[in-house]
Amino acid sequence: TKQKLWGGRFTGKTDPLMHAFNQSLKYDRRMFAADIKGSIAYAKSLTLVGILSQEEEVKIIQGLQSVLKEWQDGSFEVQADDEDIHTANERRLSELIGPLGGKLHTGRSRNDQVATDMRLWLLEEVKAIEEGLKGLIRVMVERADKEKDIILPGYTHLQRGQPIRWSHLLLSHAFSFSSDLERLQQIVPRISVSPLGCGALAGNPFVVDREFLAKELGFQSVAENSLWGVGDRDFIVEFLTWASLAMVHVSRMAEDLVVYSTAEFGFITLSDAYSTGSSIMPQKKNPDSLELLRGKSGRVFGNMAGFLMTLKGLPSTYNKDLQEDKEPLFDAVDTVSASFQIAEGVIATLEVHSGRMRQALTMDVLATDLADYLVRKGIPFRETHHISGRAVALAESRKCQLNELTLADFKALNVNFSDDIHDVFDFEASLERRESIGGTSRKMVDRQISVLRAILKK
Ligand code: ARG
Repeated sequence: TKQKLWGGRFTGKTDPLMHAFNQSLKYDRRMFAADIKGSIAYAKSLTLVGILSQEEEVKIIQGLQSVLKEWQDGSFEVQADDEDIHTANERRLSELIGPLGGKLHTGRSRNDQVATDMRLWLLEEVKAIEEGLKGLIRVMVERADKEKDIILPGYTHLQRGQPIRWSHLLLSHAFSFSSDLERLQQIVPRISVSPLGCGALAGNPFVVDREFLAKELGFQSVAENSLWGVGDRDFIVEFLTWASLAMVHVSRMAEDLVVYSTAEFGFITLSDAYSTGSSIMPQKKNPDSLELLRGKSGRVFGNMAGFLMTLKGLPSTYNKDLQEDKEPLFDAVDTVSASFQIAEGVIATLEVHSGRMRQALTMDVLATDLADYLVRKGIPFRETHHISGRAVALAESRKCQLNELTLADFKALNVNFSDDIHDVFDFEASLERRESIGGTSRKMVDRQISVLRAILKK
């Protein structure tokens, strides 16, 4: 009759509902490769301290590789009693190689095992996410490079502010993503810490070489305290907070594009590939991709907040609450990965309506430039701001554009206005004046593009 791996001291049966409640295999099976990788390294370390003979090690490793293959080709048969990926793999190993399989867990606990698996698994995912993020940034940079001539109003408070290049706007979001890239790289050393050999909590009595284990598994360092090693999940919190902020950036960019895709703005049209229709209103083309990108940020933040709540108040070392680290982490990884991919597709395929953007450039967005004109004639900005404001008000009362006021009108507001006033009313010239670092001039937009390209090459 089947016995649970930990069944020795038990006489009563597990309540069936409790069994299901306790079981994590349905989601932690996705760490099968990490689990087997950790076990192979651990078998080697047991040989080094004489617990396994060389032949035993070979048999165990071959057995583990067969289990791995079963997961990979889908032939692994889950048994009702398998509790989690660790017990499932061990159960299967012993079926394949007999009682020898029972030696593998010597000095090891699922506590150091699961912490090891989670870190190994996350490190692999982080590599993929980094590539996804770079892909998104790359598409934004390439698009920005091609569309530098397209200009539109830049907004504050969603009110027209000053003219900018479309590329400048795209790149502003790309810079948020490049900070995310940097932050992601910065959390890696704290994920890449090996808990293997910490045992259940107090350390490993067979004195396995933990530095050897760390090296075998590609970890950058070793957990220096075994209680910490089995109980720490800060690396998951860090990933979740990282993901929350990255998704806030995705969401803010999506919101810009949702607004720009309305008929009222008409600045962009999403490709059909990233839009959906309405079941009742035949004319509708909805930016569902963008709305989902915006919406998914809430879910990732929820994973972070929920897991912090799980951690708070836990006593030291391992507690079963920690099994609740998986679903939020897995969900955040899946959501962020998919979001970067969708965002990349949306940006790569959207259509930009440069004419509509240009039409939105009313002359009042040059009011700052008008004030600056007088500054260049030596008048303090606080006065020129006021004078320019009065010009705006005058044009508004006459229902005309700012540049349709006559020179006499301007002169009535301030004697320093002269013929060259009309040079102010040139959007391109306004862009080109913003030529210090970070500005919207062509040269400074080119500079941003090269900065980001250099980051992508690293
Ligand atoms: N499935 C468990 C988890 O994910 C593995 C560790 C179980 N350890 C234990 N002592 N019950 O956290």
